[in-house]
Amino acid sequence: MIYKTENYSEMSRKAAGMIAAQVIMKPDCVLGLATGSSPVGTYRQLIDWYEKGDLDFSKVSSINLDEYKGLAPEHEQSYRCFMNTNFFDHINIEKTRTYVPDGLTTDVEKCCKEYDRLAAEMGGIDLQLLGLGRNGHIGFNEPSDIFVGETHCADLTPSTIAANQRFFESEADVPRQAITMGIRTIMLARKIVVVVSGADKADALRAAVRGPITPQLPASILQLHPDVTIIADEAALSKM
Ligand code: F6R
Repeated sequence: MIYKTENYSEMSRKAAGMIAAQVIMKPDCVLGLATGSSPVGTYRQLIDWYEKGDLDFSKVSSINLDEYKGLAPEHEQSYRCFMNTNFFDHINIEKTRTYVPDGLTTDVEKCCKEYDRLAAEMGGIDLQLLGLGRNGHIGFNEPSDIFVGETHCADLTPSTIAANQRFFESEADVPRQAITMGIRTIMLARKIVVVVSGADKADALRAAVRGPITPQLPASILQLHPDVTIIADEAALSKM
């Protein structure tokens, strides 16, 4: 299903509505969460409803898609820091039940295996929130010759490094690798909500929805998922 919204704020309210419904229907649900610009408004809306007393996150657990390799949780551009600042610090979620890959791990293989085990032990993800990369990535599953199922350490493509430079002082400061949940765990989520905003995502969105299913455009795999809702603004849908 694709919802067309006028703009970013309407997109954010709709996505927040779906997450709120999930939390109300299943208070101890597992949320799969994303970082980046796309979900910030969604988190802001959820915080607003929490502050009004309409939402309770005390029993919710969360597992994030990815983390930059080499960044400490305290680093202000780490995804752990992003999640705390943009969401967790403002709601009553139990922080010990919020998981983000360990960017400082010295044993990547073990860390990745444990992350997959963790997702399974949590009972799988009830609702996975995704953004869409300009090159069609989801999480940091970058365009490649194969879909990688497991959590893994990914080399970021030059286009992703360039896109994420806006958060760092210079391009040289952008980490070159990230630990990312693989396609399998994402696809095993019971429900997937994708938020997409802006004309610079229009080509990727069109290819993801209308193009062939190919690891060169990782989001195209979502065509095979039984319950995906894409919430996109007019600009992102301008090429459909
Ligand atoms: C973030 C993530 C990425 C972003 C994507 C879009 O955790 O996994 O796939 O969702 O790069 O980023 P924004 O929303 O900043 O355009």
